[in-house]
Amino acid sequence: MKLELEDIQNGALHPRPLPYVGAYVLLRVDDRRAGREVLRRLLPTLGDASRPADPAAQAWVSAALTYQGLKALGVPQDSLDSFPLAFKQGMAARAAPLGDVGESAPEHWESPFGSPDVHIGISALAPDAARLEAVFAPAREALQTIPGVKAIWRQDCHVPADKRNPFGFVDGLSNPAIEGSGMPGNNPQEPPIKAGEFLLGYLNEFGELPPMPAPEVLGRNGTYLAVMKLHTRVAAWRQYLRANAAGPAEEERLAAKIVGRWPSGAPLTLAPEQDDPELGDDPRRNNNFLYAGEDARGLKCPMGSHVRRMHPRDSQIIGVARLHRVFRRGTAYGPMLPADDQEDDGVDRGIVFVFVGADLERQFEFIRKEWVDNGLFIGSQGEKDPLIGSNDGTGQFTIPREPIRQRLKSLPAFVTTRGGEYFFAPGLRALRWLADLDN
Ligand code: HEM
Repeated sequence: MKLELEDIQNGALHPRPLPYVGAYVLLRVDDRRAGREVLRRLLPTLGDASRPADPAAQAWVSAALTYQGLKALGVPQDSLDSFPLAFKQGMAARAAPLGDVGESAPEHWESPFGSPDVHIGISALAPDAARLEAVFAPAREALQTIPGVKAIWRQDCHVPADKRNPFGFVDGLSNPAIEGSGMPGNNPQEPPIKAGEFLLGYLNEFGELPPMPAPEVLGRNGTYLAVMKLHTRVAAWRQYLRANAAGPAEEERLAAKIVGRWPSGAPLTLAPEQDDPELGDDPRRNNNFLYAGEDARGLKCPMGSHVRRMHPRDSQIIGVARLHRVFRRGTAYGPMLPADDQEDDGVDRGIVFVFVGADLERQFEFIRKEWVDNGLFIGSQGEKDPLIGSNDGTGQFTIPREPIRQRLKSLPAFVTTRGGEYFFAPGLRALRWLADLDN
């Protein structure tokens, strides 16, 4: 089935410039007519997915709405009712089973996350700050001149040329290929995933059309987003590695076992003994692997490492990995903690994590519940993701090794949630439909 690329927002499907800067802004709509006018003004700046390789299309804005936002715009009740429960309830209402407890619980989230005030999310992305401000200008002008809509939160983000995230690891290397999108995946050993796993209106991996909100013009070519502001506890991470390793080389080895890749991005499955920056930097090779034949027992890349949990590929697990694929668009925020600093400097740094998919429950929520915070699917019940799991100082992580396995104990949380929301990112026709509502 051919994808209607010219109707699909390019936020997810467009390859990104490197380096890039971005901004996420949350809006509150106090007046539905004003909200529709802001959408109308935004429409000409929203990129579509039809020109993936066009360098002129390297700066763009994307827009998405929460359930409260659809209500605030005056979307009719029968249409509101047709959205899935997870989206209607929102991330904060479902936080505890997803592992957002303790410090990560919604009562500690940054305002306005989790409140009924978050209505529209816009993101802008460009190769540099000047082009970012230029592509954002119409949105800024609309907000200055239309009093019924307020910008209530902004987070600037960036991906540096070396693609390192705040833990010092290259990130953003592996995403599935989406059938018909024209964007090639970089794992030739993984067949493209059906478009209906990521976009509404197309067949999914079951050979079915995913449930779509009504009317069709609103649902078609849309997708759901789970956006999370994730604070990284970099000093705690460095301290933990130092306390559990005999020296710097061992620290790097343990860190790589936890992540499943070396800092350069080289996968442990292909570079089991030491980092291989050339491999990490080679897009034809750095994601070209499976696990079952190479590393069934996890002697190279532990079953419980972050990347192997998040995408077990062909590993033997309970369940079917292809039904829980996620498309990720993460972007770092905040300055890096200077190399070798072991003490927390109090500066907020982390990742704005963006999940893109057609089914919040089967993809994003399933992964967080079953793969991040429960190890049953790999036969390690009680072990959580050592990098992003909701560990509380009692967690453990098993590193298969000959003759005996190594076990890390007393794992703390290295990542805490500062906020999160579910959004619906409609197609461009749908956004026009919303802007033209006249009730
Ligand atoms: C601050 C939080 C996080 C950090 C520091 C982090 C770090 C990383 C790193 C370094 C990689 C390897 C690079 C790559 O394969 O692209 C990776 C891969 C991945 N992460 Fe995360 N991650 C975070 C949060 C999450 C969350 C919340 C999810 C999902 C719920 C997730 C899902 C994935 C997936 C699916 C992959 C790709 C695995 C593969 O295809 O092999 N990550 N992450």
